[in-house]
Amino acid sequence: MSRQALPVPTLPVPTLPVPTLHVCVNRRLGAAGSCAAAGSEALVAALAAEIARRGLDWRVAANPCMAHCAVGPNVKAAPGGPLLHHCRAGDAAAIIDRLIAEWSPP
Ligand code: FES
Repeated sequence: MSRQALPVPTLPVPTLPVPTLHVCVNRRLGAAGSCAAAGSEALVAALAAEIARRGLDWRVAANPCMAHCAVGPNVKAAPGGPLLHHCRAGDAAAIIDRLIAEWSPP
C-alpha cells in the first residue's frame, strides 16, 4: 500500500463587504420626478471624486429606484449605514463628512 499525500483543500477566504454608497440614478420619463432628473448622475461622480481625494476604501454604485423618489436624490450607505435624502453633487464633501462621523463600516 503506497502512501501518497492527499491534496489539501483550499477554502475561500471570507472578506468583509466594501463600504459602498448606493446612489439612485433612476430616470423617469414624464412629469414625475426622479433622482437622475434631480442630478444624481453628477452626484455619483462627485462622491467618487471626493472618496478618491480622501483616499477612502469606499465605492460608489449607481442603483435603480429606491422607492423614496419624492425626497431624492437618495444615497444609501451600506452595509448598515443611513439612507440620505436630497443629496446634491455640491454636497459631496458634506455627505462624506457626515458618513465618517455617523457611520462605522467594516
Ligand atoms: S427615482 Fe430615486 S428613489 Fe425613486
